[in-house]
Amino acid sequence: MIKVGIVGASGYTGLELIKLLLSHPHFELNYLAGSQAKASIADLHPSLFGIEVMCVKQADPSEAAERCDLVFLALPHKTAMGFAKPLLEKGVKVVDLSADYRLKREAYEAAYCKHEDPEHLDEAVYGLIEYYRNAIKRARLVASPGCYPTATLLGILPFIPYLDSDSPLIVDAKSGVSGAGKKLTESNSFVSINENMHAYNPLGHRHAPEIAEKIQDRHGVRMQVDFVPHLIPITRGELVSVYARLKEDIDVQEVLKHAYADEAFIRLRNAPVDVKAVAGTHFCDIFAKRSGKTLFVSSAIDNLLRGASSQALAAANLMCGLDEHLGLPTIAYAP
Ligand SMILES: NC(=O)c1ccc[n+]([C@@H]2O[C@H](COP(=O)([O-])OP(=O)(O)OC[C@H]3O[C@@H](n4cnc5c(N)ncnc54)[C@H](OP(=O)(O)O)[C@@H]3O)[C@@H](O)[C@H]2O)c1
Repeated sequence: MIKVGIVGASGYTGLELIKLLLSHPHFELNYLAGSQAKASIADLHPSLFGIEVMCVKQADPSEAAERCDLVFLALPHKTAMGFAKPLLEKGVKVVDLSADYRLKREAYEAAYCKHEDPEHLDEAVYGLIEYYRNAIKRARLVASPGCYPTATLLGILPFIPYLDSDSPLIVDAKSGVSGAGKKLTESNSFVSINENMHAYNPLGHRHAPEIAEKIQDRHGVRMQVDFVPHLIPITRGELVSVYARLKEDIDVQEVLKHAYADEAFIRLRNAPVDVKAVAGTHFCDIFAKRSGKTLFVSSAIDNLLRGASSQALAAANLMCGLDEHLGLPTIAYAP
């Protein structure tokens, strides 16, 4: 068994990781930590009441390194790099769910804060499985992608060679409230969000530079990404609709089929996609349509799984030489 740990076990993505790892055939959960010690995991997550899991430690990178071969960091940005650095220095593999290692230094510092671990930033591999699989196999640090970039990139990357790169990508994105983590704020309180919806950070969200950087990395083209996220009154799930300008007539279905013919967790749909069909799973469902030179691509994921924890698990599988698909959830919660 390969010993793994979770720092940030008390949060939403931490909980999803615990659930995935409890039934994993080759990973043994050997360290759980949060900002405070707890005698029982059920003190943090009542849904785990009655399930025997170790107690939760106060997070300490030295103890994590002693107990683990690989550690998942389910922490806020900035906090995560404070853990990744000492873990990597002690030879432990790291899958970071935060934004700390996703961007080149200049873009990171423009969007987030000063980077405190630039020496490891260069070796980090972006964890979008379908596009960085081979590099992930060799990595000891994987930066798991943001949830919106995951859905957006999986939908639009196959079409980039056919787009008019002088026209912006218009990305209209909608997320359930769990996308913001468990911290209560005025805008995600029940009364604010129930029977309501609104855009936030329009044309200024930090996931726009991540999408643009990875498009450039894959295709060598710098596109303007006009990204507008919305908060909608569901718990989990994300729907991203991209509008783009084609430079030539293409068969959109053929482009998608060609790109994803061998991908078990990309489902190409012939009708607009929805979040209920993917909630609880690692799938990304994609639908595309063309009208003249206008391209519409829509993708749906579970933000906590494909947008975070199951994608991190797939990366960990690859980093440890295991079958990429081990332990990935396939059955949707939908009735
Ligand atoms: N939610 C999503 O859909 C999603 C998707 C993709 C990526 N992500 C990223 O994944 C990371 C975790 O997200 P989340 O939604 O799980 O957030 P969350 O629910 O807010 O959980 C974050 C956890 O980090 C813990 N923490 C904070 N500072 C700590 C410290 N110094 N030591 C130990 N634990 C500490 C917190 O524990 P305490 O409560 O005990 O302070 C909290 O439980 C974030 O970087 C987020 O941007 C989230």
